[in-house]
Amino acid sequence: MAEDHRNDEASQENHRPVKKQRLPRFISESELREEFSHHQSGVARINNGSFGSCPRSVLDAQNKWLHRFLQQPDDFFVNTLQKAILESRTLIKDLIHADDVNDVSLVDNATTAAAIVLQQVGRRFVQGKFQKNDTVIMFDCAFQAVKKSIQAYVIPAGGSLVEVQLPFPVHSNEEIITEFKKGLERGKSNGGRVRLAILDHITSMPSIILPVRELIKICREQGVDQVFVDGAHAIGSLHINIKEIGADFYVSNLYKWFFSPPSVAFLHCKNSSGIFDLHHPVVSHQYGNGLPIESAWVGARDYSPQLVVPSILNFVNRFEGGIEGIMKRNHEEVIKMGTMLAESWGTNLGSPPEMCASMIMVGLPSRLRVTSDEDALRLRSYLRAYHGIEVPIYYQALRNGESKPRDKDGYITGYVRISHQVYNSAEDYHRLKSAINQLLEDGKICKMLPKD
Ligand SMILES: Cc1ncc(COP(=O)(O)O)c(C=O)c1O
Repeated sequence: MAEDHRNDEASQENHRPVKKQRLPRFISESELREEFSHHQSGVARINNGSFGSCPRSVLDAQNKWLHRFLQQPDDFFVNTLQKAILESRTLIKDLIHADDVNDVSLVDNATTAAAIVLQQVGRRFVQGKFQKNDTVIMFDCAFQAVKKSIQAYVIPAGGSLVEVQLPFPVHSNEEIITEFKKGLERGKSNGGRVRLAILDHITSMPSIILPVRELIKICREQGVDQVFVDGAHAIGSLHINIKEIGADFYVSNLYKWFFSPPSVAFLHCKNSSGIFDLHHPVVSHQYGNGLPIESAWVGARDYSPQLVVPSILNFVNRFEGGIEGIMKRNHEEVIKMGTMLAESWGTNLGSPPEMCASMIMVGLPSRLRVTSDEDALRLRSYLRAYHGIEVPIYYQALRNGESKPRDKDGYITGYVRISHQVYNSAEDYHRLKSAINQLLEDGKICKMLPKD
């Protein structure tokens, strides 16, 4: 009997109408436009790299958090805030493949993280743990705020600095590795030790991906004490595996490529529970309770940007492939658009495609005569004011001993840094192409452009 009954069930199963599997519905074009409808219309924003972008749904979520705080601040402070920050930290920990949430702090931005790391180095000089000839090493293209943090915290305490010239335009990781090795030799040449290496994961200007894993391996072999990776542009544009990278400190801004509001960044400190001299630069009630806790309370303020990580994940998961899919498409599009521009202008890309993520450098025609930082700024302002194009321009003087890129008219000394994010369209880049081509047709050089 039992056997028959089972067969009955099986035959009923066979005759049940097959349920159609629902395909996931990804964000539509109109929904995408709505998410970024607060962007000023008519502007070709091809500079996501500087200030990022935050969709409406995430801004709404942030606003809800702020209102929850304002409704009943005491209750929010006691019962909600720390739990919500911990949830954001935990999601970030999983995203970057870290082991321990206690190694992940949320801070305002990469500049704050640089202060945390460089103040620690400065204190070690003052305490006599580091000696006068000891150095910090970095590439010359390191972000200004980071360079100035060295000037502020390390140099006055007795440390010195070795700057390595970044080869640019660059053709391979080997060129970078060779220069870095020479820099390490210089760092050790006066008998001192290299105490800290600062490596950008994606440099800002000019923009390329540095081979951080290989460089960190060399640092370990050469006895460099600590490595700080400035990955300000990384999360949301590059896959980050914190364990494989192996840095002591790794910071990334969430507001640039990961759709957070301004401003929040994560700072990962390897084995932070064993480090006792690492502190947030703003000393609060929480001083001495470990960096993640110090960073989660720097006095009364609006913490809502730190609380929206779950909403960011909801947003990115509306795209095919989630954040990985977004990164892949941004990379493909920026290469396509960069190549289109370089072909139209008869110039070169600043690096091979595999050395960039969602930003790429494209050479400007030499006939524009970008011959100084001031020329670069003039051109940038002109494109904003007269063509509604937002794009940073980079000037690089010709350097001895390096191959000098040329177009048909002369040496290339100016580059645009173009970004691609989900809200961009090909029209944005074609507008840039035409604006530059028009200048050439009119026989204009940078010096002829209005000053502001
Ligand atoms: C490589 C790099 N480091 C640090 C920063 C500083 O970031 P923030 O202004 O968020 O502190 C930037 C900003 O663009 C950057 O590009």
